[in-house]
Amino acid sequence: MAQFECPEWTPALSVGNDQIDGEHREFLVTVALIANLIEGGSAVEIKAATGAMVALLREHFQNEERLFFGTAYPMAMKHSVEHRVLLFMASDAKKMIDSSNDQVYLRLALGIITQLVVDHLLQSDMEYKTYLLSDQNAGMEGTATGAAPVLETADRP
Ligand SMILES: [Fe+2]
Ligand SMILES: [Fe+2]
Repeated sequence: MAQFECPEWTPALSVGNDQIDGEHREFLVTVALIANLIEGGSAVEIKAATGAMVALLREHFQNEERLFFGTAYPMAMKHSVEHRVLLFMASDAKKMIDSSNDQVYLRLALGIITQLVVDHLLQSDMEYKTYLLSDQNAGMEGTATGAAPVLETADRP
C-alpha cells in the first residue's frame, strides 16, 4: 500500500494546454513508479527516482510559469512561490536521500515530498485551470514558450 495518494491522469485534470498536460501525465507516471519503490525498491532505485522527479519538477515549474506569463492570472506570483518552495524542498530531500542508505528514511523522505507535489497538482494547478478555461479569459490560454517570468534568485535550487 502506497504511503501517499497516487492518482492516475484523467481528462478531468487537463488544464487546457497540451504541453502542461503531458508533463502532468509524466509526473503522475513517475509518482506511480515512486509508490512502487516505496513498497520495495532498492536504495539505488529510490535515489534514481528522486533525481528524475527533481529534474521533472524543475523543468515543469518553469514551463507552467511561462504559461502564466501569457495571461493575467492573479495568483501567478503566489503559485510561483509555491513552486520555488516545493523545488527547494525536493532538492533538499534529494541531497539527504543521496547521502543515506537508511531504507526507512529514504522511503519516508521520498513519500513526503512526492505527496506535497501531488497535492500541489491536485489543488493549486486546478485553480489556474479554472481561471484559464473560464469564458472571461477565453483566448488567453498562452503557451509554455517564450520568456520565463520565473522567480530567479541566487539561492534558487
Ligand atoms: Fe503543474
Ligand atoms: Fe504548479
